[in-house]
Amino acid sequence: MSNPSTPSGSVATLVIVAHPDLESSRINKRLAAELERRGNVTIHRLYETYPDEKIDVAREQALLTSHDRIVFQFPLFWYSSPSLLKKWMDDVLELGFAHGRGGDKLNGKELLIATSSGGAENMYQAGGFHNYSYSELLRPFQQTANLAGMIYLSPFVVGGIREVTDEQLEKYAADYADYVEGQPALSRTRG
Ligand SMILES: Cc1cc2nc3c(=O)[nH]c(=O)nc-3n(C[C@H](O)[C@H](O)[C@H](O)COP(=O)(O)O)c2cc1C
Repeated sequence: MSNPSTPSGSVATLVIVAHPDLESSRINKRLAAELERRGNVTIHRLYETYPDEKIDVAREQALLTSHDRIVFQFPLFWYSSPSLLKKWMDDVLELGFAHGRGGDKLNGKELLIATSSGGAENMYQAGGFHNYSYSELLRPFQQTANLAGMIYLSPFVVGGIREVTDEQLEKYAADYADYVEGQPALSRTRG
């Protein structure tokens, strides 16, 4: 895991990359590589850290506590995340940590979903091939953020991955890194 110091004035950001085969990935590999190249965020590759899928809950909770913006980056699998991220949520976002009595440890932090999909963006709408928008399909993440008292940021999506040219991918990577490294949501909305 790369763990850079936070540049002054920026948000301490943890990017949890959940891709079961990052080596063979095109999109998520490039997005993560751009973040790594800039060196301003902590990158946590879940499948590399836990090949046996046994999650160290105390370690993960400490990571969450020490960052203010949490990014879940993953390829869209069956309209959701790959399974290890779901397991991570089940294990780490415990009662008394993320919700329930005393479960205020994520209050005020931000959650940003970054995903890629085989289907093109225009398929993700009413009447389109996939019928529902990304925002609708990502609701379980949004409501998880709500329950944990987090601020849910607008998702970053790379759609129609087979049509994305190398040049477009470079632009996506730069835009993604700018967004992930951007100012806190509250100060953005206050202008
Ligand atoms: C198991 C599996 C499920 C998938 N489910 C979806 C899906 O629900 N919607 C979609 O648009 N693409 C789906 N895809 C395509 C992936 O989202 C796509 O291959 C991935 O975003 C590419 O990213 P990468 O280059 O980082 O691997 C699926 C792929 C796999 C292997």
